[in-house]
Amino acid sequence: MGTILIVDDEANLRRLLRMVLQEAGHRVVEAASVAEARQRLEDEAPDLVITDQKLGDGEGLDVMAAARQAEDAVPIVFLTAYATVELAVAAMRQGAFDVVQKPFDPEGIQAAVHRALEHGGLLKENRRLRRQAGHPEGLRGLLGLSAPMAELRDTLQRVAPTQATALITGETGTGKELVARALHALSPRAPKPFVAVNCAAMPETLLESELFGHERGAFTGADRAREGLFEAAHGGTLFLDEAGEMPPSLQAKLLRVMMDGMVQRVGSRTPRHVDVRLIAATHRDLPARVREGLFREDLYFRLAVVPIRVPPLREHLEDLPELCSHFLDHAIRDMGLPRRSLTPEALARLQAYPFPGNIRELRNLIERACILAKGPDIGPEDFPLEPGLGAPSPPDLETFAGGLPLPTDLPALVSALEEHLVDRALLESRGVQAEAARRLGISRSDLHYRLKRRGVQGS
Ligand SMILES: Nc1ncnc2c1ncn2[C@@H]1O[C@H](COP(=O)(O)OP(=O)(O)OP(=O)(O)O)[C@@H](O)[C@H]1O
Ligand SMILES: [Mg+2]
Repeated sequence: MGTILIVDDEANLRRLLRMVLQEAGHRVVEAASVAEARQRLEDEAPDLVITDQKLGDGEGLDVMAAARQAEDAVPIVFLTAYATVELAVAAMRQGAFDVVQKPFDPEGIQAAVHRALEHGGLLKENRRLRRQAGHPEGLRGLLGLSAPMAELRDTLQRVAPTQATALITGETGTGKELVARALHALSPRAPKPFVAVNCAAMPETLLESELFGHERGAFTGADRAREGLFEAAHGGTLFLDEAGEMPPSLQAKLLRVMMDGMVQRVGSRTPRHVDVRLIAATHRDLPARVREGLFREDLYFRLAVVPIRVPPLREHLEDLPELCSHFLDHAIRDMGLPRRSLTPEALARLQAYPFPGNIRELRNLIERACILAKGPDIGPEDFPLEPGLGAPSPPDLETFAGGLPLPTDLPALVSALEEHLVDRALLESRGVQAEAARRLGISRSDLHYRLKRRGVQGS
């Protein structure tokens, strides 16, 4: 239920719409011109505007422009007798929520109104909560009103003003880089550079000269001297992404820079002073790497002065509707697509999915569904979340098996792992083999064969 402003220069049509909408329990106000519509927008603060395209003193697009300037942007449903594709696209591009063709049927308009009100309500609520939480600019892009995300924002606001080195941990796609950028943006270093380097992306010698720079002739191909990223980040923040992959020799050099604030270009003897705040991120279990002797303990403690854990999406699924609506709006705008919205069934399907790739995976799924959906509604069928899709893909394999000691007998470990996973699937499927096979992404006969090989009798 809401207050709806109808803008149309034909009194008959306004009356008809008023009847239909009042019957559905809405409060209705009317305007016959653009000028009148502006006045009503101000006086009545409607929750939704339905406007005709051709008006005596202007166009529906003018009403739309006025509505967009309202404090809480009001969703618009466009009414048009000249429903050309171009007009619909132009209206949607400028932020119309829906386009309804005249003559309309009462159910059609009621459904459009319902969808638009729901969308508007969600946006308004998000804005209200965010205002209430008083989120500063630097946290804008970091969505999620759930308790874990609120806690994360809280930590960021406390840590940002300090010089402390932060170690951001979290699974792939959880938003570690976004968090690092927020830390920088919230800090007094915000006007200075934020420089990111991925420690896993290049071989050791290249990474060294990237970080510390090099002198001319320091190695073959170094025909010019170059400053390193430490120097480039002077006064600002250096983000060491995938810090867990840093090779041991560089770990030692990094530790030295952290202790005395001096860097030495490769091939140079002269140390240079740098003032840089370090933020590191990793999807690895660094303490485990320390135990295995792959990561220096002293460096670990220096990096992890402030540990910041970014939760996996499955721990804050309450944020799913907000994230979906955000990614949907983005995809629609970026690709110039007509309005699309998720059906409750589609949302339910996503809610039941474990998201091994976290928020990045959600964004990709939404973008793909936007392109593939056949109509304005995105349904569960537009999210083909096959069992196999949840299986660890190569980068997740690291999280999955990274902590395992190397086996002395590989085949034995692999079959033990298989047995373990098969047993779990059977347990979770309450012994129904067909279901267990589906969950494992294998055929029933394959499961049967594997069980038989182990000497387990099929049911
Ligand atoms: N809280 C959030 N609100 C909105 N968008 C988010 C949020 N968290 C992550 N994203 C988006 O998800 C995508 C992945 O985020 P990001 O690159 O920061 O993840 P990551 O943890 O660094 O991943 P990886 O470990 O694979 O490098 C980006 O498009 C980012 O904008
Ligand atoms: Mg990243």
